[in-house]
Amino acid sequence: MSIAIFASGSGSNFQVLVERSKSEEWSHPISLLICDKPSAKVVERAQTLGIPFATFAPKEFTSKEAYEQAVLHVLQEHSISWIVLAGYMRLIGPILLKAYRERIFNIHPSLLPAFPGKNGIADAFHHPVKVSGITVHLVDEGLDTGPILAQVPVAITPEDTLDTFAEKIHRAEHQLYPQVVRDWIAKNKF
Ligand code: GRF
Repeated sequence: MSIAIFASGSGSNFQVLVERSKSEEWSHPISLLICDKPSAKVVERAQTLGIPFATFAPKEFTSKEAYEQAVLHVLQEHSISWIVLAGYMRLIGPILLKAYRERIFNIHPSLLPAFPGKNGIADAFHHPVKVSGITVHLVDEGLDTGPILAQVPVAITPEDTLDTFAEKIHRAEHQLYPQVVRDWIAKNKF
């Protein structure tokens, strides 16, 4: 019984999750990375950290269902019981949702339901609001909907640029996400 992380990009959250899971000796280890962009930096991080990974090119599948069936097959081979989305730029479809209902986490860089979608950081910064933040939630059919597990506010100050604000968001994510995932899994063992 273990955890898979799904990521498409840089993978800073992936790295922090893996490091924390190892140093804190989580009951469910992180044993797999699923990546839908074979050239993403997160794959290098997995290699460095010694985490097995599977990369997919979704366009090579005839449908989203076929893609998710292939992913599901790999998850089952690795006895995965929880999925942690960490910058996975794709909506989870019915095949994975059915197999992992209420067992998929996501982190979003805004205080949902404000600023859902791909550009949560920039949308809040340019709106402009004075406080945005981060949200950890369970995944359902919608885009950044699903039961909220934790939120932390992050201020936008007059001195902030988009870059400094994004750095603050990522620092907050790296603190909150491992903690919420660890505690939620410990409370909801299957
Ligand atoms: C994070 O900001 C996360 O909230 C969003 O995607 C970003 C991933 O960053 N869902 P990284 O790849 O973990 O560095």
